[in-house]
Amino acid sequence: MKVLGIETSCDECAAAVVESGEKILSNVIATQIPFHSIYNGVVPEIASRKHTEWIYAVVKEALDRAGLGINDIDAVAVTSRPGLLGSLLVGLSFAKAFAWARNIPYITVDHMLAHLYAPRLLCETNVEYPFLGLLVSGGHTIICRADNFDDITVLGTTIDDAAGEAFDKVAKYYGFGYPGGAVIDKMSRSGDSGAFNFPLPSLHKGDHRYDVSYSGLKTAAVNHPELFRVKKETIKNEDIAASFQKAAVDILLRALLNAAEDTGLSTIVAGGGVAANSYLRNCLAQHQELNCIFPPLELCGDNAAMIAGIGYHYLARGERSPLNALASARVVGFKKKYP
Ligand code: KG4
Ligand code: ZN
Repeated sequence: MKVLGIETSCDECAAAVVESGEKILSNVIATQIPFHSIYNGVVPEIASRKHTEWIYAVVKEALDRAGLGINDIDAVAVTSRPGLLGSLLVGLSFAKAFAWARNIPYITVDHMLAHLYAPRLLCETNVEYPFLGLLVSGGHTIICRADNFDDITVLGTTIDDAAGEAFDKVAKYYGFGYPGGAVIDKMSRSGDSGAFNFPLPSLHKGDHRYDVSYSGLKTAAVNHPELFRVKKETIKNEDIAASFQKAAVDILLRALLNAAEDTGLSTIVAGGGVAANSYLRNCLAQHQELNCIFPPLELCGDNAAMIAGIGYHYLARGERSPLNALASARVVGFKKKYP
């Protein structure tokens, strides 16, 4: 079954064709970064307008690169949650129209579950359930147990900002560039991660053993010049970047390693934009007792191959979405349930 995947939840306009949930025939990602970087963040109104302008060409390109025509597509999968509502609606409406015009099935899928599915698109990577999922993006930070592609139990989340959001906000404050995560990652390579000793949150006991918090670290990094009465200009940017990155990753690692110890799960699958972070990857690689699976960089960030991939499994067991399916900015199940 050849599934056309469509992803427009944020600032990437993406389409892909994937065969039988694992073979990527094409994977087109048109990034809107240049249109948002002058504002140092995603402007939702611009994002949905660009998706509307680009979606047809992006889907056409995905078909062309796969060497297929529209009649070769068997089904459509599309992100309907979570994300920016206006952006989601563009992809969702396009997917409905495509499926309706061709009279083929279509299915709406969850963007975060799709991030966890990404490593399964690589035939050489054997991903067996259950595993621990680390979902780290611009809007979410989730540590979960995954028992199947559609069955996760949220163990921990952020209690305030998402990990990627903290990277973006610190980069914005210091004028490092956008998107902040990739810029800070690159700058950190020539910085001293021990230059500033940023505090870690005291969230490692009881109900919060797998939770994280980023607002304190973000505030500390941003207020550092004022607190220590140093001129912003005299601080070496690379040192701020490296010290912040170390603290941000250490926060994640502490919660993740607690979850690994308590659940006995030693396979960890990471997904979402922050999973591209080189320091996070290096730190986890040093844990020989863990089997850490990271998707390749092009499948870490937002892409439609993961949407087509996970969509295939719902379609294969006969599930279909109705033509009046709605988009949703949030997913209630991603909030942690306390005992
Ligand atoms: O999954 P994603 O592409 O979009 C969302 O679903 O949010 O994640 C985007 C986030 C942004 O906050 C970006 O700054 C962060 O991923 N990011 C990184 C890196 N590359 C992207 N964070 C840390 N290190 C990176 N190398
Ligand atoms: Zn994402």
